[in-house]
Amino acid sequence: MDRSDLQSRVAELRWYHSIDLGHGIVTPGVDDTPVRLARLDLPASLAGKSVLDIGAWDGFFSFEAERRGAERVLATDSFCWGGGGWGTKDGFDLARRALDSTVEDHEIDVLDLSPETVGTFDVVLMLGILYHMKHPLLALEKVRSVTEERLIMSTFVDMTWWPKPAAAFYEGSEANRDPTNWWGPNPAAVVGMLRAAGFERVEIVDRPTLLRHRLSAQVRAKTGTGPPVTTKLWQGAIVCHAWV
Ligand SMILES: C[S@@+](CC[C@H](N)C(=O)[O-])C[C@H]1O[C@@H](n2cnc3c(N)ncnc32)[C@H](O)[C@@H]1O
Repeated sequence: MDRSDLQSRVAELRWYHSIDLGHGIVTPGVDDTPVRLARLDLPASLAGKSVLDIGAWDGFFSFEAERRGAERVLATDSFCWGGGGWGTKDGFDLARRALDSTVEDHEIDVLDLSPETVGTFDVVLMLGILYHMKHPLLALEKVRSVTEERLIMSTFVDMTWWPKPAAAFYEGSEANRDPTNWWGPNPAAVVGMLRAAGFERVEIVDRPTLLRHRLSAQVRAKTGTGPPVTTKLWQGAIVCHAWV
């Protein structure tokens, strides 16, 4: 595929991730993925590691793990790759081709992950997935069963003001107008759930700052999008590392 073919194929698709495909072409994702990458504290070298990326969508983090030297990377997804959302698997397939990547793919639901179905991995990425799970503890147990060393998880949090482990439940589309969002645990609940699922040690490596809350609340107030500012003030995202 030459540069102009690639450029027109990229323009035909709807992208979630912003992926640098080289040749000056960056996929026009709605997500500011490089900013999120900076908050993950992903090891600079993944040399010799096997990596599982759960809910990979367009595959930004799978390709990044490969770029950091991972020996093997498996990207999995089910909802978007299966046509359940506005995205598809076409972006992942195109990016993999453009990057000449050997990342493997497997369409599988989180709840079907097990050593028998996918094997086990040194490093597991579960980014932006937990709050989409109707049964989050069960999902974490499945994820624990395929983790050999470390889980790196980013997730949406709510009720951050509440001092004890707690979670908001969304029956409808009240969280970011997305009916696929079920739970907004607070950071203490996320840590407790990871331990209850069998992880030995959990560390929060990134949490929302008051400034980030304020900025995002101001944007939403101006654009009229999302929940009321007061709700937004105690929502955000955290990144945890959990070791087995
Ligand atoms: C918010 S996106 C996050 C994508 C990517 N991990 C990231 O952090 O940018 C959520 C992803 O989870 C996937 N997903 C949702 N429910 C799933 C399930 N039950 N099993 C597997 N993947 C699921 C969606 O298809 C989508 O790709």
